[in-house]
Amino acid sequence: MKPAGDTAAVKTFSDLRSPDSGERALFYVRRLFEDDEITGRQLAGSPLDFLKAMQQEGCHEDCPGSDSCPDAGMRWTVSREDLLGRTVYLVRVGRCRARQEAERQRKTEIMVASSRIPEGMKKCTFDTFKTAGLEPSIRTAKGLAMACADDGSSLVLGGGTGVGKTHLAVAMVQLLVSRGKCAVFVPTVDLLDEIKNGYGDGRSDQIERGAREADCLVLDDLGAQRTTEWAAERLFALMDDRYRNGRQTVITTNAASMKALGESLGDKGARIISRLSESAQALFIKAKDYRGRKAVQGRVGYVD
Ligand SMILES: Nc1ncnc2c1ncn2[C@@H]1O[C@H](COP(=O)(O)OP(=O)(O)OP(=O)(O)O)[C@@H](O)[C@H]1O
Ligand SMILES: [Mg+2]
Repeated sequence: MKPAGDTAAVKTFSDLRSPDSGERALFYVRRLFEDDEITGRQLAGSPLDFLKAMQQEGCHEDCPGSDSCPDAGMRWTVSREDLLGRTVYLVRVGRCRARQEAERQRKTEIMVASSRIPEGMKKCTFDTFKTAGLEPSIRTAKGLAMACADDGSSLVLGGGTGVGKTHLAVAMVQLLVSRGKCAVFVPTVDLLDEIKNGYGDGRSDQIERGAREADCLVLDDLGAQRTTEWAAERLFALMDDRYRNGRQTVITTNAASMKALGESLGDKGARIISRLSESAQALFIKAKDYRGRKAVQGRVGYVD
């Protein structure tokens, strides 16, 4: 069968609105599927949409980026589908790959900004966390943090100063953010201060909601806050809400056991620990202070 029309003149969207747009659409679909038997009744969609798909041919090879795209990153595609035993040619419109990638990057930028990781801690990733030659519990802690990042379990990382608790918690946040999750790192003391200061300008509800609703919340240095009835209540409300909604909470603490952590949380300690014991993995790291190790290595000129 003879092709239904010439497409060379079609340059702009308004060119497409010609009386023979149906014929042109048919010509395009026949050419696309190399089948001159296709009939106009098999085209499911407006002729203008088919012609838009034709106009976009090759635009992927010469993509100007979604910001300068004349079609604002929209992509028309034609597919052959079987509908109740009848073959039809369907045209759909969606976001093109460049626009999807730009949107993913924008979302990641927002997630990174809202993850609140201090600039100096951006280096804290699983890749930069060393285990070679260090105590076995350092390796266990890294494995556990990686597993929890993968399966969404909550985690309590306890132990002395400088053993890598905050490093691992930050590494989890960065990994989750790179996977499109809303993960937030916050020192417990700062969170409580922000809630308290927020009473003045009406922002405390918003701050507490953000902490409740993050996919993953790291409360760094739990137990370092002043134990007041108010602080215990705010922390209990937060932990209880996250527990009830099955959200992942990661806690770092200098406490040496769950019991000691509970004692640092005032009169709500037992109830918080009860929820954590049920929902979280816990590891109390026994190792030397990494900061001290680095200083010694630096002095004697080790290279690691
Ligand atoms: N195994 C490790 N590999 C690489 N760097 C590490 C390791 N452990 C700790 N560090 C680094 O040592 C420093 C202290 O670690 P981190 O802040 O995680 O300790 P911490 O256990 O949270 O201590 P604190 O109880 O004082 O808060 C950080 O700069 C961290 O990046
Ligand atoms: Mg720390």
